[in-house]
Amino acid sequence: MKKRVDVFDTTLRDGEQSPGATLTIDEKLAIAHQLALLRVDTIEAGFPIASNDDYEAVKIVSENVQGPYIAGLCRSVEKDIARAWDALKHADKPCIHTFIATSDIHLQYKLKITRDQAIEMAKKAVSYAHDCTEKVEFSAEDASRTDWDYLCKVTEAVIDAGASVINLPDTVGYAEPEEYGRMVKYVIDNVPNMDDAIISVHCHNDLGLAVASSLEAVRNGAGQIECTINGLGERAGNASLEEVVMNFKTRQDYFNVDTNIDTKRIFNISQMVSRFTGINIQRNKAIVGKNAFAHEAGIHQHGVLSNPLCYEIMNPENIGKQTELIVGKHSGKHAIEKSLKDLGYDFSKEQLNRMVEEIKALADKQKTVLQEDMMAIAEDVLNTVGRSNQAIVLNEVTVMTGNKTTPTAVITVEYNGEKKTAASYGAGVLDSVANAMRNIYDSPLKLQEYELKAITGGTDALADVSILFTDKDSKEYHARGLDEDIVMASVKAIVNGINQIERQKSKKTIN
Ligand code: KIV
Ligand code: ZN
Repeated sequence: MKKRVDVFDTTLRDGEQSPGATLTIDEKLAIAHQLALLRVDTIEAGFPIASNDDYEAVKIVSENVQGPYIAGLCRSVEKDIARAWDALKHADKPCIHTFIATSDIHLQYKLKITRDQAIEMAKKAVSYAHDCTEKVEFSAEDASRTDWDYLCKVTEAVIDAGASVINLPDTVGYAEPEEYGRMVKYVIDNVPNMDDAIISVHCHNDLGLAVASSLEAVRNGAGQIECTINGLGERAGNASLEEVVMNFKTRQDYFNVDTNIDTKRIFNISQMVSRFTGINIQRNKAIVGKNAFAHEAGIHQHGVLSNPLCYEIMNPENIGKQTELIVGKHSGKHAIEKSLKDLGYDFSKEQLNRMVEEIKALADKQKTVLQEDMMAIAEDVLNTVGRSNQAIVLNEVTVMTGNKTTPTAVITVEYNGEKKTAASYGAGVLDSVANAMRNIYDSPLKLQEYELKAITGGTDALADVSILFTDKDSKEYHARGLDEDIVMASVKAIVNGINQIERQKSKKTIN
């Protein structure tokens, strides 16, 4: 019989810790709906004590998303656990995830406590969490650099206190896969009450080994893998969900393991997460990269045409990659609503109406509206329609340029409810718009990266502008803008970026 491994997704928590990857609450909810459709076993929705926004996100996901367990992270202290429980208590299936570091280096330099004190704190935290709810996960942060016998002592103590999942993270991505697998087996073999819990693994990718170590841990008895969509996460990221899951599916002969994941949902969610975080997927990324199923060499193309098995170990359809038209100009509102639901969007009436308008306009010009067009428009609508917390709303833009003209821009916006117009010139059109905007929004923003893509190709395609910029504190932000016109797409990206900074400013950090 195949062994069943649980998938714990932490895109909304560890994934959001990727530099520059801030998500709005609406975006988190849309991703959480998609994760439920993907059938992950647990969604870690945030770290409720970290900020009001994190608390709200965990609460909203708990109230609205059914199916998976909804987890909230907390340190091993009562105030964190109480805050997490307050956000999670509305979930059908809540899970409190509490952690403390166990390696000597963390105990000595970060926490400044002894091993015995750490065990006491962990036991107290788990038993407090267990008084709130049945399902409690405990993480021994930096487990891979912890003394193995001490790790067994901690594990035994927290299982006694009520934890049913014990996570042994490779927090700094230091472990080699074989060694990490041995550590998991050592804990399983040496903890007397191990039958009352499962081992979870959570690997970071600093040495490019997160997926390999996670798979090796499963071969050694781990029952849960923690991962993120597109491998997002602190520093070099976490183990990528799509890679872990497709390893099990493609090499069933080797692993004899199953997950509950609906792999046909992988491509959609991967695109959604990339668009919302502004972090592009590397072209040659396994499973979801643009080149993952593209065959360039003639000899490969010939082989694939004769029989795909010659060079394709996976069928692109198994991850839900489709290239056919999903809606056209004759599609009605219901068809569009259904396609959106399939993509994981739950839109209000106002957002749906705007979606229908935009799709029909695009279908008129471009004839075909593909999955990627639809997702790009949906992201734009989600970020603009029905949002009350937009500091800047764009009203009008006029630009002038030419080979004998100094690029000039005039823009009119509503800034905190007040109408403002400004004009400026610049080295190019974008520079003139940015300078005009600076006359309205007086804060030093520095553009670090600018990228322009045609969503689905052709000169009439939707232009997708992605910018990376820093604010006065050098904090990084990603923003996107979408339009058929490249100037307008750039202006929208700048406006979305400013709105993001303003939202961030209004976030209050609690601890
Ligand atoms: O990497 C890590 O150790 C973590 C824990 C908090 C689970 O993210
Ligand atoms: Zn982590």
